[in-house]
Amino acid sequence: MWSSTWKIASVILPLIALTNARLPDGRLHANSPRPPTVPVITADDLPVTDITGAALPPLNTTYIFEQLIDHTNPSLGTFQQRYWTTWQWYETGGPIILFTPGEANAAPYTGYLTNVTINGQIAQQEHGATIVLEHRYYGLSNPYPDLSVKSLKFHTIQQAVDDLEYFSKNVKLPMPGGDKVSITTTPWVLVGGSYSGALTSWTMVNKPNLFKAGYASSAVVEAIIDYWGYFEPIRQFMPKNCSADVEAVIAHVDSVFTSGSKTQINQLKALFGWQNLTHLDDAAGSLRNNLWDWQSLSPDSGPGSLFFNFCDALEVKNGVSASASGWGLDHALQAWGSYWTTTYYPLRVMKLVFYRKVPL
Ligand SMILES: *[C@@H]1O[C@H](CO)[C@@H](O)[C@H](O)[C@H]1NC(C)=O
Ligand SMILES: *[C@@H]1O[C@H](CO)[C@@H](O)[C@H](O)[C@H]1NC(C)=O
Ligand SMILES: *[C@@H]1O[C@H](CO)[C@@H](O)[C@H](O)[C@H]1NC(C)=O
Ligand SMILES: *[C@@H]1O[C@H](CO)[C@@H](O)[C@H](O)[C@H]1NC(C)=O
Repeated sequence: MWSSTWKIASVILPLIALTNARLPDGRLHANSPRPPTVPVITADDLPVTDITGAALPPLNTTYIFEQLIDHTNPSLGTFQQRYWTTWQWYETGGPIILFTPGEANAAPYTGYLTNVTINGQIAQQEHGATIVLEHRYYGLSNPYPDLSVKSLKFHTIQQAVDDLEYFSKNVKLPMPGGDKVSITTTPWVLVGGSYSGALTSWTMVNKPNLFKAGYASSAVVEAIIDYWGYFEPIRQFMPKNCSADVEAVIAHVDSVFTSGSKTQINQLKALFGWQNLTHLDDAAGSLRNNLWDWQSLSPDSGPGSLFFNFCDALEVKNGVSASASGWGLDHALQAWGSYWTTTYYPLRVMKLVFYRKVPL
């Protein structure tokens, strides 16, 4: 019935990027929001032991749970949902700490079993076990081997919430006594970040008596379609010269694309290698990429991070940095176009190698 023999596995980046527009040669164009996933943390390949010192399976050991395809119609059967777990700190009666990275292949997220994350910190303090559960439709946890409309019918928030309930009520964990720690008898804690943080909040509201506690980080509980306010703190707090020049370039691009001549539009497109883009909003929108990279900065980020490389490309001319007012439109436009075509765009195209079709 499910005729396609191909499934899409996204190895690093979330599936959402696959839906973005492509150039005629099939390459992703760069007008794609920064992946909002939970940061990937992969556990070191170190031997783990339980509290008695007995050796445990490596953290990357993959377990399978038979999950219902449709929680409103169990007769549709099950699919194989992947999970990872450790009982390094577990003592009988301890809680189970459940986490899903959400919209990503969960295999590289084994760090979320360990105490480098809040999940493991809770488990260590409370003598609990940790689980990383792959979200339906990501990685290899797919109800159906294709992404047809018919298959995607079961890709809903409610089904994802119900997955957490069904998993926590029915899983038989591989640890000793793991068949006796269902959420009906044992306290479970749900942890999530970004989308999975929102999923955590929604689960706590939707199923108020299920999880003993929820820990939601950066939970995106409100959908905002035209979210211009996202860029406002970036505009204000990025280096002043870079901010001034970015504003100048964006105002120029808006002006040319809305009221320029065909020649002016084509010249501007050529500067950024946008010749193959049909829709001018795709072209203009792609400039947001460099600003999205702000989100990857942390208080100790400095030179060498992608965002600052971008500002350096615009603001450093012959070894000299622009003053707070920037170099102005002419230089900034050329410098941004050049950075885009020679550095940034090739970086994004390279990321395509992380997508592949794998035969089932
Ligand atoms: C536009 O598409 C053609 C055909 O796929 C390709 O050869 C060319 O390199 C593309 N141009 C740019 C600027 O990406
Ligand atoms: C786990 O990691 C080890 C060491 O890196 C590797 O040899 C093994 O294939 C991995 N197992 C899985 C299931 O990925
Ligand atoms: C994390 O767990 C490891 C292994 O059990 C332990 O050696 C280390 O002290 C723990 N770190 C913290 C910060 O608790
Ligand atoms: C100007 O740009 C340089 C290079 O990116 C940066 O190091 C510097 O902090 C900026 N100065 C101001 C005043 O914005």
